[in-house]
Amino acid sequence: MAGNVLDFYEALADSYHLIFEDWDSAIERHTRILGDLLTSQTAGNPLRILDCACGIGTQAIGLAMMGHQVVASDLSEAAVHRAQHEAQLRSLNIPFYVSDMTSLREVAESGFDVVVAVDNALPHLSSGQLGQAATAIASKLKPNGLFMASIRDYDKLILEKPAIQKPAFYGAPGSRRIVHQVWDWIENARYSLHLYITVQSDQGWKTQHFVSEYRCLLRYELSAVLSDAGFGDIRWLMPPESGFYQPIVLARLSA
Ligand SMILES: C[S@@+](CC[C@H](N)C(=O)[O-])C[C@H]1O[C@@H](n2cnc3c(N)ncnc32)[C@H](O)[C@@H]1O
Repeated sequence: MAGNVLDFYEALADSYHLIFEDWDSAIERHTRILGDLLTSQTAGNPLRILDCACGIGTQAIGLAMMGHQVVASDLSEAAVHRAQHEAQLRSLNIPFYVSDMTSLREVAESGFDVVVAVDNALPHLSSGQLGQAATAIASKLKPNGLFMASIRDYDKLILEKPAIQKPAFYGAPGSRRIVHQVWDWIENARYSLHLYITVQSDQGWKTQHFVSEYRCLLRYELSAVLSDAGFGDIRWLMPPESGFYQPIVLARLSA
């Protein structure tokens, strides 16, 4: 699946912030919830954190703004370049790497307190790749280190098989934006996601269309993969409990 995924995020990097109503607010909102969760679960402050699916930097930037020592990596070079630029604009010192989380071999640092992979990065991986990623992530953590990831609620979505994600309307007249998704189910547990970002300007309306493939990664499967890679104390926090918009998994590397 990796080629398709890479094309998707390379093409999307310049526009990724447009999927949020206001990206800076999203950075602040994500970090408030996830940063508080991490500090409540992990001794020491600031924490040494690796974001191994940083994208354009939504969590890496926010966690660095909270004072944590953040290193960030992603499969997509274009996303990493954008994240680097956004970090510089905010005077943040974050080492960035282009690295596939199935190996993380380009990431020079190790012994992290925490590794994170937030906003549905893991369902891009096949089940074999997921096992490799869990092993690579474990290799980057110190003993008792914490892994935190968030994925969509596929335990529910696989039953519902939605065909669309309802449009979100952002902005004011003259510069409005519509963001919506169409999901084409390929098999029982896989779908093509079509993301449409339609932007209004003086020249009229223009739509960008991006396509990627996801699989329904169920919570029991991710828990089992983490357990096989040496993680214990695996817990799921659902949105009502965490306040985050996706289920979150926390897993602690055995000492
Ligand atoms: C939905 S984006 C989330 C990015 C970021 N965490 C955020 O919330 O803005 C998922 C990210 O996972 C990355 N990704 C997918 N497969 C990957 C892999 N094998 N190794 C590293 N990153 C990967 C993509 O390039 C993309 O940037």
